[in-house]
Amino acid sequence: MDYEKLLSFKYLKVRPCKEIKGSVSVSGAKNSALPLLAASLLTEEVELTNFPVLLDTLYALKILQALGKEIALSGNSVRIEGKISSVKVPFELSSLFRGSILFLGGLLGATGKAEVTYPGGCSIGSRPIDQHLKFLEALGADISVESGYIKVKLPSEPAVREFTFDVITVTGTENALLTLVRFKGEFELHNVALEPEVIDLIEFLKKLGVEITFKGRSIRFYVPPNGLKKGKVLHKVIPDRIEAGTFLVIGALLGNPLKVKNLEPNHLEAVISKLKEVGVKLKIQKDSVEVYRKEPLKAITLETAPYPGFPTDMQAQFMAMLSVAKGVSVIVENIFENRFQHALELSRMGADIEIKGKTAVIRGVKKLIGAPVNATDLRASASLVIAGLIAEGETTIYKIHHLLRGYEKIDEKLNSLGCEVFLGKT
Ligand code: EPZ
Repeated sequence: MDYEKLLSFKYLKVRPCKEIKGSVSVSGAKNSALPLLAASLLTEEVELTNFPVLLDTLYALKILQALGKEIALSGNSVRIEGKISSVKVPFELSSLFRGSILFLGGLLGATGKAEVTYPGGCSIGSRPIDQHLKFLEALGADISVESGYIKVKLPSEPAVREFTFDVITVTGTENALLTLVRFKGEFELHNVALEPEVIDLIEFLKKLGVEITFKGRSIRFYVPPNGLKKGKVLHKVIPDRIEAGTFLVIGALLGNPLKVKNLEPNHLEAVISKLKEVGVKLKIQKDSVEVYRKEPLKAITLETAPYPGFPTDMQAQFMAMLSVAKGVSVIVENIFENRFQHALELSRMGADIEIKGKTAVIRGVKKLIGAPVNATDLRASASLVIAGLIAEGETTIYKIHHLLRGYEKIDEKLNSLGCEVFLGKT
């Protein structure tokens, strides 16, 4: 569980790759593993399989240990056991990643109390948690913010039995679901997020005995009078649709063909339909997709939206691909207010991108030129890897910890496909 080893890497060197033939297996979803780890606070013994070992999940395991849980990680399975001995999430861990906010819901669902740090924003936006707090206020919780910590105490009974989010928020929805485990009886949530990772958490909570049904963006949540089931919960993390999408983009540029395995095609409908629009040929099977590169790719227009719309987490990867498409593409980023930082880095490599507010206009160029660049956030770093693979000359991506937060063994996976990428320390 040594995240220090991953943090010791400072850069990734990426050499041009002419073509990729072969197959790659996608890891479990980071953004599902994180709420599931928070949910492991709700019961005595949990085993998660298809668990992705990467910076954010290693940080989350450290937090669970700090809260009193015993952790046993072997390969891509992790066992979490024991009782909670503290409800305070340590600042030095929670400030490292946004997903730590999920321990607010996990602790409240398990104990009715929580002390978590105000999660820092990050480069893609201010990342407010007003909706998380508005939900807790509606329940009648005591909430105080003291020296950077949010201290919350739930009432014995909720003041309301329904709540409507003003904004569709993934971790806001997940925190509400985790918290509601605390109260017996029925609760209705409206305007919820429906990302596959939210559904994966719902499947886990059902194994604890919670009855959950939903209609559109409304959820009916019911905890039976005798509370949660006891005993071990075994759960397999869903495939990471964003890692899968990232490899599909690489296949669109270099695949001859590239087979991306262990994915859930239904989670990738918006991404697949946009890939078809750029002109690539895809063979979709039950749990894999084969992608054949297309030259030149066609320029397109895309807008990010909450699931099942086009995922904001795939926007940067598409921008790298569209920077060498034929024609002018337009990307509208509707979710985060500052999620175009990769555009500046791609421009260093010769991309022709103009940013106007939440709109990026990408004029396709013949080729990109390798250069030293900085990763600014997780998916931006993925876009720079993609750009480096198709550029002429070598690219060095600094601040590479951003990439290692959300992609498991990305260097090994790319090199097994015949690419040449190397993590470096000095
Ligand atoms: C989750 O972040 C993901 N992270 C993000 O993935 C993903 O980009 C995002 O959902 C959108 O799909 C995890 O699941 C750990 P939001 P989250 O709350 O929950 C506004 C990655 O690369 N908002 O759905 O923090 C917010 O500002 C990461 O893996 C409020 O206004 O995102 C944003 O504009 C990056 N008030 C929009 O809603 C709130 O209280 C969506 O944010 C909460 C959110």
